[in-house]
Amino acid sequence: MMTLGIETSCDETSMAVVEDGRRILSNIILSQMIHTEFGGVVPEVASREHLKTITPIYRQALSKAGVSLKQINLIAATMGPGLVGPLLVGLSFAKGLAFAAHIPFIAVNHMEGHLAANILEHPDLDPHHLTLIVSGGHTMLVEVRRFGEYEILGKTKDDAAGEAFDKVAKLMGLGYPGGAEVDRLAREGNPQYYRFPRAMRKEGYYFSFSGLKTAVSLYLNKLDRATFEKHQADIAASFQEAVVEILVEKTVRAAQEKNIRHVTISGGVAANSRLRNLMTEKLKHVNKYLFYPSPVLCTDNAAMIAAAGFYRFEKEGPGEFISEAVPYLKLQ
Ligand code: KG4
Ligand code: ZN
Repeated sequence: MMTLGIETSCDETSMAVVEDGRRILSNIILSQMIHTEFGGVVPEVASREHLKTITPIYRQALSKAGVSLKQINLIAATMGPGLVGPLLVGLSFAKGLAFAAHIPFIAVNHMEGHLAANILEHPDLDPHHLTLIVSGGHTMLVEVRRFGEYEILGKTKDDAAGEAFDKVAKLMGLGYPGGAEVDRLAREGNPQYYRFPRAMRKEGYYFSFSGLKTAVSLYLNKLDRATFEKHQADIAASFQEAVVEILVEKTVRAAQEKNIRHVTISGGVAANSRLRNLMTEKLKHVNKYLFYPSPVLCTDNAAMIAAAGFYRFEKEGPGEFISEAVPYLKLQ
């Protein structure tokens, strides 16, 4: 069964063709570079960019996959969470196409898409697993009983992990979005150079990152230019260590307390090299296993949306054409 996935929840216009929820035939991703000059995503600009590029991306996705619209059996599009304008562009395109071509349509929760990236890539992943979703907009620890059955164990009280990376990258003059740049710089630095605070260490599975961002800001304000330039990599590594340590600590604890053997990470921050390494190592100590998606499936992409749409369709059949964009859609 061939699914066309459509993702436009933020600043990536993406379409993918995925066969049987596992085999990626194409996954075209266009990241809108225009926002770098504003230092963050401008919703109105993002909507207009999606409008401009959605049709060429659609053609590219089909042609790269070597299929025609007639061979598509399901159209899946992100309905939320995300920015309402961008969501509406992808969702309206998907519904219009599905209606005109008489193809079943299904609306997908973006967070379910992120966690589905692991199911797509790892056939041996236990359907019952623990997942840490860490993106630019969300940080949540979820027990997946099986696909579609979730218990949210904890989430962030303020900033998302990716947001902390982006804000600190901005403070350090590394551009936007800066998570990958902090990761790259941190590889040359000493993570023990400065100890930034680890917030909410004891508070169950909840996270908080806004205090850490403030701590980095106050620390940078006190530094002279020469010290900053000499120790930039050390500061990036020390900040990254504070984020990663708390993410790993809580995830490992949840896996032990809930007695879950398979753990996944997903979302943009799951591409972080330190997070992948430390999480793998700490889980191994307690005889548990970490799965993570390839980098291209960590950040926003339509292959994960196609996969999630296909798994939902298998469970529940097609969705309704009235599905609307829901900016604050919850994972249920
Ligand atoms: O999942 P995603 O593409 O978009 C949302 O749904 O939010 O995640 C984007 C986030 C950004 O905050 C970006 O800085 C972060 O993921 N990110 C990283 C890395 N690559 C992307 N953060 C840390 N290390 C990375 N290597
Ligand atoms: Zn995302």
